[in-house]
Amino acid sequence: QRLPTLLKRMPKAELHIHIEGSLEPELIFALAKRNGVTLPYADVEALRSAYAFTNLQSFLDLYYAGASVLLHEQDFYDMAWAYFEKAAADHVVRAELFFDPQTHTARGVAMGAVIEGLQRACRDAQSQLGISADLILCFLRHLSEDDALATLEEAMPWRDQFIGVGLDSSEVGHPPEKFARVFARARELGLHVVAHAGEEGPPAYIWSALDVLKVERIDHGVQAIHDAALMKRLADSQMPLTVCPLSNLKLCVFKSLTDHNLGQMLDAGLCVTINSDDPAYFGGYLNDNYLQTFAALHLNAQQAYRLAANSIEASFATDEQKHHWM
Ligand code: ADE
Ligand code: ZN
Repeated sequence: QRLPTLLKRMPKAELHIHIEGSLEPELIFALAKRNGVTLPYADVEALRSAYAFTNLQSFLDLYYAGASVLLHEQDFYDMAWAYFEKAAADHVVRAELFFDPQTHTARGVAMGAVIEGLQRACRDAQSQLGISADLILCFLRHLSEDDALATLEEAMPWRDQFIGVGLDSSEVGHPPEKFARVFARARELGLHVVAHAGEEGPPAYIWSALDVLKVERIDHGVQAIHDAALMKRLADSQMPLTVCPLSNLKLCVFKSLTDHNLGQMLDAGLCVTINSDDPAYFGGYLNDNYLQTFAALHLNAQQAYRLAANSIEASFATDEQKHHWM
């Protein structure tokens, strides 16, 4: 079997996808029309041509603008359903979707509309596409910890409709330890905990995500390469890293995909996974990330099995589900 066929068809888990980052320009314009929202772009082509980013913040400004068309439960359903159809084509068997409630509640959207719309799509993904899917509520780190604490409390009526919490948005200047109390509260509630760390920020942010937030996975983590002691810690503990190669390329974390350190991290024995982050903005869904990364770094079939097995093992699915997929 040719390597690209193996990459496309092997069962895999997607552990780092911001569902608002799956909103394609076509759907943004369709929802804007349906909801009477005016966008500062003439058409789909004008919006897509604005997707030229220099760093994380330059992307986030457009990402939050795009999310402004989401108002009703059905909008959140339609967005997630469009993602699940792409995920099914990519042979994703397990998806853990990040969502950013503060982006929506700050605009007056009800928490219930967000969570119930996304969760209904997750149930349909299981029944109609055979994809096991769950939600992870992310706190926006450019906002205060009190805002995050209030958001977690506001989501408590839907406690059984999400499995964990994460930390995203502007990284530099907003270290993990800023969110120590809200992550302690989430752990008390029995929620899984993950955090973005070491995307643009320093290795110190990965250390504090581990030691202060006590996360179960690191989202991105590519800056760990600059700290040998941290690399050893990550390898020894087999702490999963949810790496997003096309995201790193588009946000200029690496100049070229051939410069990406995913191969070095695999060689160092780290539990690396491949993910899409914000596929509508970064030019590719999960299989595009696998195919382009394997081509750029000349990875082999053994590494393909390793990455897919890592993704399933690092997921928050049950042991029974994991056994079924591997
Ligand atoms: N929100 C959506 N995508 C993100 C990323 N790559 N980093 C931080 N926050 C995000
Ligand atoms: Zn991300």
